[in-house]
Amino acid sequence: MFTDKQLDHYRTEGFVIVDDVVDPDMLARLLEAAKRVKQKVRVGEVDIYTHWAGPGEPWAIRGLFAPEIGEPDFADYLLTDPVMKYVQPILGDELRLGGVLIFTNPYDDDYGFGWHRDSVRTKAEMGEEEELELLNPDAPMNGLRWHLALVDDACLMVVPGSHRRYRTPHELQCLTEAEVRNEDISGQYAIPLKAGQAAFWNGKIIHRGVMKKDVERLTLSCSWSKHSEEGTPKDVDPRLRWLLANNVRDALPEEMQVPYDRWRALQVDY
Ligand SMILES: [Fe+2]
Repeated sequence: MFTDKQLDHYRTEGFVIVDDVVDPDMLARLLEAAKRVKQKVRVGEVDIYTHWAGPGEPWAIRGLFAPEIGEPDFADYLLTDPVMKYVQPILGDELRLGGVLIFTNPYDDDYGFGWHRDSVRTKAEMGEEEELELLNPDAPMNGLRWHLALVDDACLMVVPGSHRRYRTPHELQCLTEAEVRNEDISGQYAIPLKAGQAAFWNGKIIHRGVMKKDVERLTLSCSWSKHSEEGTPKDVDPRLRWLLANNVRDALPEEMQVPYDRWRALQVDY
């Protein structure tokens, strides 16, 4: 459970580091599972939904709940007590499916695609009021996301506090102009995670991933969402369409099937 101080840090800075969202046994299992999956993806043995930096070089691996991946620990982890102790006080007992994906480093080159906000696309013509309305920093939390480092990882770079304010002119350039998307921003901070530590963070913060070819990254991006009876079905996110396959639900732990069904009911497939 977050302390008041941690929650305060999350709200004001946009992230907070915690030490106890995984137990040591599960951490060891997740590390082995992630290594196996990465290896299989690299050699082309399995590919449910992968983000490629180049041929044979994944930087993000999705599809981890698919039975073809053959690694039930990823879904099991989301249901463990250390996770629920953080998630339930914030989101309640009725959850909607979240997810797990692997962020990793390509081997042949440094990699990163530059500054952005998740789910809010900053545009030059956007006024302060409009951007703040989209950022909506004090809205009730409907989801929680955390990066769990399986090995030491300082690849996630954020601009602390930028989730709750209008962008500066330089940030706007970095967010919108391809040539400067990887330029340093004043105040940037690479969140330093030791293996087993996690950072809960707000994806609307200005951030980028900075991966080095010679530094192994094996970090799980994990999430849960809050369920509510309201909710309008929307076109399924193409990155999540694999979850609609007939064999996925039955491969999930039983406790995850209701959260899955709640998520599934809101997906329009076409
Ligand atoms: Fe992002």
